[in-house]
Amino acid sequence: MGNYEQWAETVLEKVRHKLAWVSEKNQDKIPYTTDSEGNYDDRSRQGQEGADNGINWWTNGFWGGLQWLLYQDTGDERYLKTARNLEEKLKHCFQEYYGLHHDVGFMFVPTAVADYRLTGNPESRKIGLHAADILAGRFNPVGRFIRAWNDIGEDTRGWAIIDCMFNLSLLYWAAEETGDPRFRQIAMMHADTVMEHFVRPDGSVKHIVEFDPETGAYLKSRGGQGYQEGSSWTRGQGWALYGFMISYIHTGKQEYLDTAKKIAHYCMANIPENGIIPVDFRQPPEPAWEDSCGACVIAGGLLEISGHVPELEKKIYVEAAVKILKAIDGSRADWTEKCDAIVQNCSTSYHDRNHHMTMVYADYFFIEAVYKLKNTGILLW
Ligand code: GLY
Repeated sequence: MGNYEQWAETVLEKVRHKLAWVSEKNQDKIPYTTDSEGNYDDRSRQGQEGADNGINWWTNGFWGGLQWLLYQDTGDERYLKTARNLEEKLKHCFQEYYGLHHDVGFMFVPTAVADYRLTGNPESRKIGLHAADILAGRFNPVGRFIRAWNDIGEDTRGWAIIDCMFNLSLLYWAAEETGDPRFRQIAMMHADTVMEHFVRPDGSVKHIVEFDPETGAYLKSRGGQGYQEGSSWTRGQGWALYGFMISYIHTGKQEYLDTAKKIAHYCMANIPENGIIPVDFRQPPEPAWEDSCGACVIAGGLLEISGHVPELEKKIYVEAAVKILKAIDGSRADWTEKCDAIVQNCSTSYHDRNHHMTMVYADYFFIEAVYKLKNTGILLW
C-alpha cells in the first residue's frame, strides 16, 4: 500500500492526539453524539427500557470499540479501563431486557467480545455468549431471517433490515467459541435470505424487507432510512458490503465474497467526484444531505475486500476507500478541541429533522478504516 500507509500514519498521529483527551474527558460516559458546544452526550442511563437515550441504545458499544482500537495501538491501560467501565454498564441491558433488540451484535462485539478476544477475560466471554443467545432467539425459522427491532407503533414481527448483516459477527464468534453450529447456521441462513431478497441485480440493496412472520413469504420492501422505497440508503450499502465480507471471512462461502464485490462495484460507481457521500445514492441533488458515517462504513468494507482478492484487484478497492477517507480527513473532520467527535456531517436518515451531526460510530469506523490501511490490530468483527 506504500503511500497510503504513510498517509494513514499521519492521520493516526492526529487520532492518538485527539482520543487521548477525548477518552479521558468522557471516560464515564457512553456517548452517541455531541451537543451544540461540542460535548458528548451520555446514553448510559438505566431504567429507560427501549428508549433512544438509555442503556439499550443500539450504538452503545462503539465507544468501547474505539477504546479497544486505541488500546491495541498504544497499549495505554487508560483505554482498557474506559472500555471495561462501559462493558460493566452494558451488563444492565440484560436486566432491562425489554428494550433489547437485534443490535446486540453492534453493542457486544466491540465491547465484551473484543475484550475476550484481546485479553481472554472469562467474564466477557459469558456476556458475549448471553448476547448471542438473545440474537439467535430472534430468528424466524420459516422465513429464515432475524427479526429487526421491537414494536415501533406497527407490527414489525416480519421485518428484517440490512443493518443486521453486521450483527451476524456475534453469531459467528459464538459458533467458533462454543463449537455449537446453530449460531453459524442461523447467521448463514439470514445472510442467504438477504442475498435473495435484499440485494438488487445492480448491486444496490434495500433497507427494510417485510416477510409474513407466519409463512415466511416475502411481502414488500420499504425505504427505511433512505430517500424512498427503491432508493439506495448509503449506510445500508455499507452495512451490506462490509457485512457480507464478515460472513465470508467467518465461513469461506464464495457467494458472500461475490455479493460483497457486487455491492462494492455499485458503490464505487456512485461515489461522487469529491468523495463526499450522500445519505442516499438516489436522493435528489438538493438538499445535498451527506452521511460521513455511511462513507466510513463503505470505506471499511472496501478495505476488507482488498485483503481477500488477488494482488492485481486490490488497488481498485483501496483507492476507492482512500478517496472517501481523504475526503473526510480533508473537509469533514474536526481535529480541534472544540468538538469531542472527529467525523462531522453524519445523518441518521434522509427524512430525519436533523442532518450533519456527529455520531460516535462514524468516528469508530473512520479510525478502524485508517488502522486497516496500516494493517495493524485484529478485526474486531
Ligand atoms: N443501524 C442503524 C443505522 O445505521 O442508523
